Amino acid sequence: MKILALSGSLRAASVNTALLRAAARLAAPDSTIRLFQGIGALPLFNPDLEASDPAPVAALRAQIMAADALLIASPEYAHGITGVLKNALDWMVACEAFVNKPVAILNASPRATHADASLREILTMMSAQIIEPASVTLALVGAGLDEDGIVAHPEISSALHAALEAMRAHLHAPR
Ligand SMILES: Cc1cc2nc3c(=O)[nH]c(=O)nc-3n(C[C@H](O)[C@H](O)[C@H](O)COP(=O)(O)O)c2cc1C
Repeated sequence: MKILALSGSLRAASVNTALLRAAARLAAPDSTIRLFQGIGALPLFNPDLEASDPAPVAALRAQIMAADALLIASPEYAHGITGVLKNALDWMVACEAFVNKPVAILNASPRATHADASLREILTMMSAQIIEPASVTLALVGAGLDEDGIVAHPEISSALHAALEAMRAHLHAPR
């Protein structure tokens, strides 16, 4: 099972990126979770540029197409998802890379209800398939945990592990 992870934060010490990196370490042996590295290199979305297919956009599209599922975590900025993540999603609207793509959403903050709702609305509009049992909210913002701390934290790592197992069950379920 190949899972591509997208973080909506470019911060080096991002809680959301740490959460996705921790998920990669907790993944089952038959699964790989790889963080997409080029989200900050995407040009600002401009429909006029779509025909030229900028290299970072082509890389994102190819990695999404090759993935069995996506794992997305984004901070809430001013009651929305970050511009970084919205920009990446806007690039993927016309190429339909998200159509029927299973997606789990990890929300690192119980306060970030607006961004979570907005991300769900955007993904639904893009015809992605949100894996509800694998989409969880964890109280990480302000908890002072980095990637190692998340993996070592008994409750948080077990909630994350359960979400990943739910994702795995969803992907292995007969259709
Ligand atoms: C510009 C800006 C706007 C923010 N707006 C909100 C907000 O509306 N709601 C909220 O819960 N947190 C808000 N925050 C707090 C971030 O969501 C929080 O710092 C989060 O940890 C950032 O994610 P990261 O650690 O992955 O970069 C905001 C932070 C910044 C920098």
